[in-house]
Amino acid sequence: MTLCTKISGKKLRILHKGLLSLACAVSLPLFAQQPMKTLLVGVDHRAVTSLNGDWHYLVDQPPAKGLYTSDGRVRENGYALNTHPNISSGPHNEEYDFSTAPTLKVPGDWNTQEPTLFRFEGVVWYQRNFDFQPKPNTRTFLHVGAANYKSFVWVNQKHICDHEGGFTPYDCDLTTALKPGNNFVVIAVDSTRQVDGIPSVSIDWFNYGGLTRDVSLVTVPTHFIDDYDVHLKHDATFSPSANVLSGYVHVEGAAVGTPVALHIPEAGVDTTVETDAEGRAAFEVKAKSLSLWSPETPKLYKVQISSGQDAITDDIGFRDIRVDGTRILLNGKAIFLQGANMHAEAPYRGGSVHSDEDVKNIFGFLKDMNANFVRLCHYPHDERMERMADRNGVMIWSEIPLWQRISYDKPEVYAKATFMLNEMIRRDRNKASVILWSVSNETPNNPTRTKFLTNLANEARRLDPTRPITSALIGPKVDQDAVLQNDPLADALDVVGQNQYIGWYEGRPEDADKKTWTLPQKPILMSEFGAEATQGNHGGPNQRWTEEQQLNVFQHQFVMMRKIPQVRGLIPWVLMDFRSPTRNIPKLQEGYNRKGLLSEDGKKKLAFDLFQKTYKEHTVGKAE
Ligand code: GCU
Repeated sequence: MTLCTKISGKKLRILHKGLLSLACAVSLPLFAQQPMKTLLVGVDHRAVTSLNGDWHYLVDQPPAKGLYTSDGRVRENGYALNTHPNISSGPHNEEYDFSTAPTLKVPGDWNTQEPTLFRFEGVVWYQRNFDFQPKPNTRTFLHVGAANYKSFVWVNQKHICDHEGGFTPYDCDLTTALKPGNNFVVIAVDSTRQVDGIPSVSIDWFNYGGLTRDVSLVTVPTHFIDDYDVHLKHDATFSPSANVLSGYVHVEGAAVGTPVALHIPEAGVDTTVETDAEGRAAFEVKAKSLSLWSPETPKLYKVQISSGQDAITDDIGFRDIRVDGTRILLNGKAIFLQGANMHAEAPYRGGSVHSDEDVKNIFGFLKDMNANFVRLCHYPHDERMERMADRNGVMIWSEIPLWQRISYDKPEVYAKATFMLNEMIRRDRNKASVILWSVSNETPNNPTRTKFLTNLANEARRLDPTRPITSALIGPKVDQDAVLQNDPLADALDVVGQNQYIGWYEGRPEDADKKTWTLPQKPILMSEFGAEATQGNHGGPNQRWTEEQQLNVFQHQFVMMRKIPQVRGLIPWVLMDFRSPTRNIPKLQEGYNRKGLLSEDGKKKLAFDLFQKTYKEHTVGKAE
């Protein structure tokens, strides 16, 4: 099945036409089981029926015969049917029974819930019952915040949808499968890393599998608001008093000319526009007054959008972010980003971040560090992160997980990357805290990759012309004092991320003092730098794996950074130690990447205090 046979005219807006013609032209089996789908924006601001809680599960050991046929297709008559063995019947029934099976908590990865599943990478089946009373003239979707990596959904034995991608949400239309009273849902999640997946098979983080984020039922009117973009109009130049809001609202199923109301009481906005033939209502409206969002004043407005029987009220901040030469301007003012990298690893308890508590702990660290910025590496995180960043005034670098071993020569991989980029931007485009979209991390400098990522960066700009596009570059070798960064990918970026590990992977800490960098004349973010240290391990400044050596690396890094005028941000690798199966030095790592400024249980290392002081006194780097 190719994308072409699946896509309807209306769905074209999700994927770039160019991509589609490419796919059709070569009739690629894109997203083998990934039908086009709507993606409901603002689900966390709708009344939903939560399906969080205990789900029965069973493990489908490789080769996962309950899910896949021998030639890799999805079975329709496997565990998805949720039948029950009649213990007294003959031997030919399916030998499983969800109703008496153990349970896992949803949301949550299975690795940290069940010790026998800690290192399991493969297929786990989830099942639960739920009561439902269909209402006339409504549609009901299953909303999955994230399922890592592939997931396949059945409701009442009907195969509804599949999704690929472990860090972006999706919605499946259950309307025709639901019945009054008791229903059941079965979801198979396959966490196996795929060579042509995104990420591919090589990662330096823990591959937490499962229904890792919230799952809910969302019931909406037949014609409903599934997408919207309400932002400060992004003119060629920023004018602080223009106060013009622009964007669009999409009403799924709406006929041309359907009224859509936009009401922002505090901004004195009250306007009605009409949908076009695609169900999309564009608008541009002058607000009576606007307090622009910033770290100092993270103002959010109640934005009420309604059309027909549907209405949604979101909390949205308005701000302008743009690049000017080598400066980053927020609301016309040059800014310096003082941040840290952070994986979606839950402080204290470990596992994949999925709760208010997890997010509160992470933002507690950032606040304690005097940070105004965080790079959510290397994939979209739980939406709670952006919501808290909106409220707390922390700026975000958001990224899709294109990193190692990616097949840049395969159109189906490009299609997957584009789809994932769409999902990331669609979910978070209304979050003022997100100031950068990143298309990748540390990719090999070759023409195929540069073309792939240049196209992707341009696709990101097409989807969202209001934010700068970035990526974290690695290389060049830093074994000479003169360092020239001439990766052509930088030409496609508005802001350039530069990763380097002088003093850890390359050379000694003091070598950094002598480096002179030649970098693109664009804003540069030192997007990764640091060293490993086991918290509580002490020794001399050149004794590797000690807190003192890690501190020494950063002190010399700072000497170097002060000499690079276009550095507009510091993003040390990494805020907190995180699990990674590739980090196996006994006593020192024990399965963790130890470059954190904090241990996984929130204990500070000496370097944390250095950043806390540096960020408070602004002693490294200049906004202009
Ligand atoms: C790389 C990569 C990170 C990795 C880090 C490290 O630059 O971007 O994902 O964890 O270096 O080696 O610790």
